[in-house]
Amino acid sequence: MLLTSSAAPGQIWQTVLHELRRGALDSKHPFRFLTLATAGTNFPQVRTVVLRELSSSVEFLVYTDFRSAKVQDLLKIPRVSLLFYHPKKQVQVRVKALATLHVADELAQEHWKRVSEKRQSEYKNELVPGTRIEKPELGWEIQADNAHFSVLKFSPISIEVLQLGKKGHLRILFELTSGWQGNWLVP
Ligand SMILES: Cc1cc2nc3c(=O)[nH]c(=O)nc-3n(C[C@H](O)[C@H](O)[C@H](O)COP(=O)(O)O)c2cc1C
Repeated sequence: MLLTSSAAPGQIWQTVLHELRRGALDSKHPFRFLTLATAGTNFPQVRTVVLRELSSSVEFLVYTDFRSAKVQDLLKIPRVSLLFYHPKKQVQVRVKALATLHVADELAQEHWKRVSEKRQSEYKNELVPGTRIEKPELGWEIQADNAHFSVLKFSPISIEVLQLGKKGHLRILFELTSGWQGNWLVP
């Protein structure tokens, strides 16, 4: 269990942030991966992405090809939801956030340096992600000179945490008002 009913909301807030940060740092941690939901044109769209960083000002950073459908979605509607689940600790974290796209600016350049050469090639595909192709090899063989790398920054407005427990489940909602305020909810 990550959370207990005896902990104050402020303590829980710190515990949750600590665990999310571990996800960004440890490739084996379950919070390494999150589900990113965008408002698609006709349907909500969900996909798995990697959490690259949780900044000191509580911003979630993710890398993507700026030509991808998710980017098109959030340029139209920048409101997104993020979902994390830790199966061992039985904790779910749901985040509502506002997205900003960073291409070739200071943030994107700083993160591009952290991407290994092998991984950099994944952002240099000549073809736009989602393009229909005759054979799967075309999905990585045609390399462009320039990369289509971007950093998505998700600034949360609320973070809801659900801890499953034998005695009873715990549910707490943190909302950004003047600071982060936590309130218990009925699970
Ligand atoms: C484990 C896993 C991690 C992934 N991480 C990323 C990622 O960090 N960034 C990304 O753009 N796509 C990532 N993907 C691929 C996306 O889930 C998705 O298939 C792709 O980005 C296209 O999505 P879109 O068409 O909605 O833009 C990952 C997929 C898996 C299975």
